Amino acid sequence: MKTLIATTFLALAAVFTVPAASAAGYDGDLESANIDVSNEAALQRGAKLFMNYCMGCHSTQYMRYNRVGRDIGLTDEQVAENFIFITNEDGDPVGTGSLMTNAMTAAYGEEVFGVEPPDLTMTTRINGEDWVYTFLKSFYVDESRPFGANNEVFDNVGMPHVLWELQGWQEQVVDEDGNERLELVRSGSMTPGEYDRAVRDIVTYLSYMGEPMQLDRQRIGLYVLIFLGIFTILAYFLKKEYWKDVH
Ligand code: HEC
Repeated sequence: MKTLIATTFLALAAVFTVPAASAAGYDGDLESANIDVSNEAALQRGAKLFMNYCMGCHSTQYMRYNRVGRDIGLTDEQVAENFIFITNEDGDPVGTGSLMTNAMTAAYGEEVFGVEPPDLTMTTRINGEDWVYTFLKSFYVDESRPFGANNEVFDNVGMPHVLWELQGWQEQVVDEDGNERLELVRSGSMTPGEYDRAVRDIVTYLSYMGEPMQLDRQRIGLYVLIFLGIFTILAYFLKKEYWKDVH
């Protein structure tokens, strides 16, 4: 019985443990991304934002369009219509079974941004969800940078502030206590609350990307627990049956 209880606890721990995130060289505070990967609407909004604002530079080349569509609740037609912007040699849109590459060559990326935009399939695994969330909220005006923007959590980043139309522009200010913080000096098309949600949606989508199995894991974990529960009862009655003549 003790072993069974221990096994049940271990199974529980395995289902609900989330790996600790690392902060990619930034030692300040990170905001909590507070995401819920089981939220299908958030995944769909995040995917749409990602396709529109990120895939021009970043690939997620370890995933295929149709797999993503299936996982986040979209049909192949919806995926083809809304998500596929790249074409094959003949100039036709690639099929939904294609890997999610993009058209930017490494050499072009390096020439324009100084560094090739990295593939983002695993970025939340590498950097942590909170880091990516805070990163996307921490661009600020810095005229000394090639694209006029710098980033608090990624100093001298090669990436422009691609979401500026949504967020607007922030500037670095020093408050009375001498602490640096970011202040919105020009608003974008979204309110700060709406922008937080948009960024959270993107991170939700990227978190799913980094570990697609997590959508299934909790569901499977539940079945495992139900099975263990039923098995415990069976084992108990079997034990009783075996021992009843001994006493
Ligand atoms: C105009 C091109 C461009 C677009 C569009 C773009 N990025 Fe980037 N991004 C870059 C470049 C270049 C880097 C590498 C920066 C460096 O190393 O200095 C980068 C780096 C990153 C990193 C850091 C990855 C790491 O581990 O170093 C993340 C996360 C990221 N981008 C997310 C996004 C997201 C999310 C979007 C869409 C909202 C986006 N990017 C849109 C060019 C772009």
